[in-house]
Amino acid sequence: MKTAQEFYVANLRTKEGQAAYAYLLDRGVSKDSINSFGLGLALPEWDRLARYMEAKRFGKPLLLEAGLIRRAKTGDKYYDNFRNRITFPIHDSFPRVLGFAARTYVPGDEGAKYVNSPTTPIYEKGRQLYGFHLARPHIKSGGVAFVVEGYLDAITLHAGGVKAAVAAMGTALTQTQVNSLKGTAKEVQLVFDADQAGIEASKRALPLLYNADLDGRVISLPAGHDPDSFVREYGSQAFYDLADKAPDLADYFIARLLDTNAKTMTGQGRIVSEMKEVLRQVPDAVKGQFLRNKLADRLGLSPELLTLREAEKFKRPPAAANKPKPADDYDRAAGELLVFMMVHRECLSLVDDWLISVWPEDRTKIVLKGVAKALKDNPDNPDVRPQGLGLDGDDHQMSALVSRAALSNRTYPADQTMAKAKAMIVKLRDRGKKKKDEEFTKAIKLAEAMGDEETVEKLLAAKRGQIDPAIPVGPR
Ligand code: GTP
Ligand code: MN
Repeated sequence: MKTAQEFYVANLRTKEGQAAYAYLLDRGVSKDSINSFGLGLALPEWDRLARYMEAKRFGKPLLLEAGLIRRAKTGDKYYDNFRNRITFPIHDSFPRVLGFAARTYVPGDEGAKYVNSPTTPIYEKGRQLYGFHLARPHIKSGGVAFVVEGYLDAITLHAGGVKAAVAAMGTALTQTQVNSLKGTAKEVQLVFDADQAGIEASKRALPLLYNADLDGRVISLPAGHDPDSFVREYGSQAFYDLADKAPDLADYFIARLLDTNAKTMTGQGRIVSEMKEVLRQVPDAVKGQFLRNKLADRLGLSPELLTLREAEKFKRPPAAANKPKPADDYDRAAGELLVFMMVHRECLSLVDDWLISVWPEDRTKIVLKGVAKALKDNPDNPDVRPQGLGLDGDDHQMSALVSRAALSNRTYPADQTMAKAKAMIVKLRDRGKKKKDEEFTKAIKLAEAMGDEETVEKLLAAKRGQIDPAIPVGPR
């Protein structure tokens, strides 16, 4: 991993790395940040790293095991896992490189924004905090760790002087990550984007911090900001001012619960069951008792109301049934289109004129329709808050897509965007179709396995009968 890291770092300094280097500087990532975080570059060819590593006598099996190369689905071909991307090494606290995240920097690149190392013998997602090796002494001296979501958020905070910042790297915070702060931090401040539905994140973090004996607080950034944009715009002093005023995590969680539940009996019942769900994740009796008393006190309830019966202790959290499905490939494609249309508004007519009339009723449609309307109602200051779009209040995945769209910049000149948007729609349609087909196939297999001929016939007929929304042809 060290050798690969050296190669990536060197690449970024070559002629081939100029565009990537310029991208970073242009985004406000300084030379110092590039150096201290060890940012590098994976070159575009499919085996550039593999060839370099093999010349250094690292064999294919080892490179595979390290997650640096992959084996093609067919044949005996291998290719580099990271290609044409800026590399972000992920260190442990020693610091040794355990894995990489790699971000696209090429405008219009259609792949995922980040490609990450797979699980390997030394790296597993959710075990590391990004930037911890740099943040550690600062966390130790100040007693506080700031936890953000994104790599670039952590980098910008460090550059702005908030050096006790680490990133959870896009995944929900885990117990392992929180435990790694134990002994260094006394308090953890979770930094939430303005648009983030803080209730889920705070509910999740609360027991993790209690289990690790860490105090928790929540910094909510003002509308439209993530830590990166906030510190860039207002500086680190403003960030520390927010930190000083940050509410206690339990108080924050309770306030969100009270915001979102009516004062009716069902509403109160929901609050109690949410609380119990949190308490269930704190197995230690003493810590559980502290938390129970605190929650009950804030709600003006008797702590007995929050006492778990023996049977409840082992109950699983509520089934995923009423939770929205996580974003998949199809949603991400919809998100891309959404970002594109919000930024390149000349394409909005595509949504209005025909997409709305032919698209199946799904959450993509809800969002596209809602955003198009918001932009038409108030082009200069559209209200694209997820709540206003008619999204399910718990649909954080889609909400996040919308919030992200609101922060993006134009990447194409106006005369190219119609064609580009159409291409995205075609892609989206094809993915939607593939997804539908997969669902049919699964259902048909199941019916076959159960010997239910009638259902099999019905499903086959329905599958054949699917109609695709037609894509309009030619320029408008
Ligand atoms: P910028 O968009 O360049 O500001 O990067 P960012 O690192 O700030 O990313 P963002 O705020 O969009 O997302 C927060 C974190 O979520 C990232 O740092 C990643 O850890 C994760 N993430 C975002 N997009 C992807 C993706 O496409 N794939 C994976 N695996 N993780 C992602
Ligand atoms: Mn960001």
